[in-house]
Amino acid sequence: MDKLAIKGGTPLSGEIAISGAKNAALPILCAALLTDEIMTFSNLPHLRDVTTLLRLLAQMGVRVTPESEAAAALDASGLNNPCAPYDLVKTMRASILVLGPLLARCGEARVSLPGGCAIGARPVDQHIRGLQAMGAEIQVEQGYIQAKAGHLQGARICTDMVTVTGTENLMMAATLAEGETIIENAAREPEVVDLANCLVNMGARIFGAGTDVIRVQGVERLHGAAYAIMPDRIETGTYLCAAAVTGGRVRLLKTAADTLDSIIDKLMEAGCDIQIAREAIHLQAPARLKSVSLRTAPYPAFPTDMQAQFMAINCVAEGVATIRETIFENRFMHVAELQRLGADIQIEGNNAVVRGIAGLQGANVMATDLRASASLVVAALAAQGETRIDRIYHLDRGYEDMALKLSRLGAKVERI
Ligand code: UD1
Repeated sequence: MDKLAIKGGTPLSGEIAISGAKNAALPILCAALLTDEIMTFSNLPHLRDVTTLLRLLAQMGVRVTPESEAAAALDASGLNNPCAPYDLVKTMRASILVLGPLLARCGEARVSLPGGCAIGARPVDQHIRGLQAMGAEIQVEQGYIQAKAGHLQGARICTDMVTVTGTENLMMAATLAEGETIIENAAREPEVVDLANCLVNMGARIFGAGTDVIRVQGVERLHGAAYAIMPDRIETGTYLCAAAVTGGRVRLLKTAADTLDSIIDKLMEAGCDIQIAREAIHLQAPARLKSVSLRTAPYPAFPTDMQAQFMAINCVAEGVATIRETIFENRFMHVAELQRLGADIQIEGNNAVVRGIAGLQGANVMATDLRASASLVVAALAAQGETRIDRIYHLDRGYEDMALKLSRLGAKVERI
């Protein structure tokens, strides 16, 4: 199994380009199921989750043609197997995003339940309830969601909590439903807006994406389109943290600062100087960061996907920070590993209290989930000596060429 060996202590400097957003690419690729015409996608990130999803779509009968480095054409005219088997779904919860499009296009779907997940129970009841409101008959049998619908009907749906993939699934299903669907308490994440923009390019009628009420007027069919995936705000935020924790100075290109307000605010509060230019962010870190307390919540508040990386920077910042996780109940798994590097962190329920110390020490640590792994990389870059991070297949799910990008910024990192 691959590991990352990182020798910390070098301030990062230089510039790198940010890749396309994983969490936008996954739903947008699923949108190809909604049309029998060809979709072409650019700025697709090379990630394990994207490959997994393409494999899943291919075994449903979608023809996937890689076009260049970061582009692919998807042709779902031969869609003949509306089924997502356990083997693929278990490795990636986002596979649930095929449910809405399959049901809308084929009138049936058989999708494995995502099952347990390292960062909490993460049920899909809201996806199911919303589709039932649109007239689908859904049974859960032997670990599979069995869904059938004649023609989905527009409905008014208010989700019990803000759910990103839930909003995306229902929005996709509604594009081909009869009449109008109103999704209340909708997720406002930029990735939801990116998906809506792609669907609109395909001929969908969607209003209000980016607000908490999305209206979708169903159309008879959607057509092919070309679409460029938005930049990854979490990848951007992770490299900003990596630069900040090392006292570095970096410029991140091909990114979108307007999707990172809460992250940029916190980095400025920590003492970083941040300048924003067209599609670029420049960060200059102070000699030592100040602690920043935060609370995760749905967009536009601070994202849960950046909580672990900020925990890492707080480990060596001046002062005491309180970090409150409100989205997932088990998202502090990086804490035990950060403690192996010497971090002073105490957990009480969903709160972590981080007391900044003068320096971390390199050690062997284990990646437990995607963003937890990213926090270990951030901490390792600040630590004295070598840190070896095991199980980095988690990182490969969500960060394109991380070792290469970090070396371009001058980090001493090796994949072994
Ligand atoms: C998405 C992101 C993930 C991010 C998360 C929260 C993708 C592919 N993944 O995950 O990176 O961490 O948003 O910003 O975009 N819930 C239910 N029932 C449901 C759906 C959700 O109880 O039917 C709960 C979840 O357990 C969780 C909360 O709602 O506590 C939010 O989850 P959700 O927004 O659905 O996360 P994902 O869409 O899976």
